[in-house]
Amino acid sequence: MGDLPTTPSSGYRCYEYLFLFLLAVLFLCQPSDVLAFKDINTLSFDDGFKPLFGDGNLVRPDDGNARILLDRFTGSGFITSDMYEHGFFSAKIKLPSAYTAGVVVAFYMSNGDVFPRTHDELDIEFLGNVRGKPWRFQTNVYGNGSVHRGREERYTLWFDPTKDFHRYSILWTPNTIIFYVDEVPIREVVRSDAMGGDYPSKPMSLYATIWDASDWATSGGKYKVNYKYAPFVAEFKDFVLDGCKADPIRVSPSENCDQRAAEVESKDYSVLTEGRRRSMRRFRETYMYYSYCYDTVRYPVPPPECMNVPTERVRMDVTGRVKFGGSRKHRPRRKGQYAVGSGSDNNQFDR
Ligand SMILES: *[C@@H]1O[C@H](CO)[C@@H](O)[C@H](O)[C@H]1NC(C)=O
Repeated sequence: MGDLPTTPSSGYRCYEYLFLFLLAVLFLCQPSDVLAFKDINTLSFDDGFKPLFGDGNLVRPDDGNARILLDRFTGSGFITSDMYEHGFFSAKIKLPSAYTAGVVVAFYMSNGDVFPRTHDELDIEFLGNVRGKPWRFQTNVYGNGSVHRGREERYTLWFDPTKDFHRYSILWTPNTIIFYVDEVPIREVVRSDAMGGDYPSKPMSLYATIWDASDWATSGGKYKVNYKYAPFVAEFKDFVLDGCKADPIRVSPSENCDQRAAEVESKDYSVLTEGRRRSMRRFRETYMYYSYCYDTVRYPVPPPECMNVPTERVRMDVTGRVKFGGSRKHRPRRKGQYAVGSGSDNNQFDR
């Protein structure tokens, strides 16, 4: 809370810390029966996935898990054997520990191979960390090739993602996209007609990759991958692929998938109960540190799905970055910093 005026007495500080502590306790002590996903069926790697690249660095122990490694020779990744139109896509993931600057672990859906100019994409990307600093991650949405309208949000987490497995999920229905961390919904995108093709609509594959993103991942490329700490290992298990298998170049939309989508929408993970909405609000007001919706320098008119939540907006400056923390004021604005990127030039959002 570096922006507090004057120096409070130490007694006051003490209450401040106590308050933050209580907030954290409140956040963590959700009654889990209110939030936990009911009836999800988990799959092992062989039930739905195949290698994508860096074959030797994709390790598949007998227990149905998968480990992807980055070393000085290659990263690695895997992909679903099928493409899906809508559904709930999820895995428990444990991120590489120690020094991981420049290392990106991506868990995402895309159809870029099939539709190079009109692709859709839903991203969860973990952006590496410097020892002692919290991991950061971002979510993003592209539809029908909208690569010049990035919809990035960035966050920290309320736990250390390298210590234990946590579930990360993407729900994609004809009407709503929800990103989850464990049972906490962290972002909801409601489709509106104004979004048009920017709302993902064509079948996608689910991917998991680890790769060297020294150029932009950690503090805008300030920290490179240090291979002294290699191999970097991300571990995946308990996959969920609850969606409609679909041929991306079919001629007419399949009725089949409409029915599957209705099923998905009636599942527990599709329902934002009041308790889940509350935990989403709390997450976003505590851990979100960038949102394109409040970046009025980049988007003078926010894209149509933006909700403008006053309790979120009040934390952000005009560039959509959180005001507290103060590290921005030590870094001069660079030329082109706010140029709308190609989709891979994400360093503009780091503080
Ligand atoms: C997607 O983009 C293509 C090419 O720009 C366009 O012809 C098509 O109408 C768009 N589809 C939607 C749903 O907006």
